[in-house]
Amino acid sequence: MQQNQQILIDSLPRGKLQASHYRLESGPILEPSVGEVLVKTMAFAITAGTRAGLQGSASYAGAPKSGVVMNGTGVGEVVASNSADISVGTFVMAPTGWQQYSIHAAKNVTPIPSEHDPIHYLGPLGVNGLTAYFGLLDVGQPKAGETVLVSAAAGSVGHMVGQMAKIKDTRVVGVCGSEAKGLVLTQNLGFDASLNYHDNGFRDALKAATPDGVDVYFDNTGGMILGSALFRLNIGGRIACCGVVSQYDTDRPEPGPKGIPGLLINKRLTMRGFLLFDYADRYAEARKNIHAWLQSGQLKSLTDEVEGLEAAPDAFVDLLGGGNIGTRVVRV
Ligand SMILES: NC(=O)c1ccc[n+]([C@@H]2O[C@H](COP(=O)([O-])OP(=O)(O)OC[C@H]3O[C@@H](n4cnc5c(N)ncnc54)[C@H](OP(=O)(O)O)[C@@H]3O)[C@@H](O)[C@H]2O)c1
Repeated sequence: MQQNQQILIDSLPRGKLQASHYRLESGPILEPSVGEVLVKTMAFAITAGTRAGLQGSASYAGAPKSGVVMNGTGVGEVVASNSADISVGTFVMAPTGWQQYSIHAAKNVTPIPSEHDPIHYLGPLGVNGLTAYFGLLDVGQPKAGETVLVSAAAGSVGHMVGQMAKIKDTRVVGVCGSEAKGLVLTQNLGFDASLNYHDNGFRDALKAATPDGVDVYFDNTGGMILGSALFRLNIGGRIACCGVVSQYDTDRPEPGPKGIPGLLINKRLTMRGFLLFDYADRYAEARKNIHAWLQSGQLKSLTDEVEGLEAAPDAFVDLLGGGNIGTRVVRV
């Protein structure tokens, strides 16, 4: 009988995450109950935010637990349905987790229109693309001619934020962890400048790359990069607090940077956190615009693919160390 291969959280990390915090198991493939569907995973995304869930800092996700399937968003095909709303053969986006088969209430899956590439629902048309869209456009409110700074700029959310900011006619500066990533941003994705935060002269380079200051800072990292950005922000600047990846892979997160609240007051800055779920009633609008940008070539989706379920733990550890460019996807 065919089994469901799954990756479970074996133990919760203390300090840095390691592949040994996971284990591979096989379980039965369950039948969908009334109102449910069975999804066969085609691929899932590995995303930095799920590390915050293991740490317990993503409190909206509840307390972290071991012995359960690792969570994550996937795309796949409905292979059995007990719902009149979704038929067998439909491709859907769903919280599949790291496993081959998963059961979902039909209302909790997003059918993927046949003209769309399902893999885009792990990137630009999925959680991270929508996060880039609302965080930049709604929270950041960029205006033509302004300067937008984004951290983790070569990652999944970051590379889309920068391109969307270019679509809005701003000057875009990306911060990332290597020269090679920086070249991808400036040569392939239209960023105006890139900076490596590992460089000793990072603060001076940031100053040089933002001669007119910064109007919008899209913060994926917190930490030292946020601290440096605060000093470059112009009066009336906006900080979109998206995530704190510099503080996830540890059990000793650093306190927030100096300058808060003093710089917020003196520069009349707005610093606003957001969660994608708050925009659920506007996903259709965002997907329509993002799809049009993909079609016109104004937005390029970079994916960084890994083959096989069993490769996921190492791929996650590697992502936290900066190994990915664009959205890391595991093909199951
Ligand atoms: N608010 C929301 O609703 C929401 C939704 C989705 C995602 N998020 C957040 O969005 C952010 C990006 O997530 P993602 O899935 O797109 O991940 P990602 O950017 O694709 O991957 C994480 C990247 O973080 C960088 N990084 C790792 N350690 C770092 C450090 N100490 N300092 C600076 N950069 C570091 C690495 O790139 P380098 O080579 O540049 O170091 C790595 O590639 C995360 O903070 C996540 O929590 C928020």
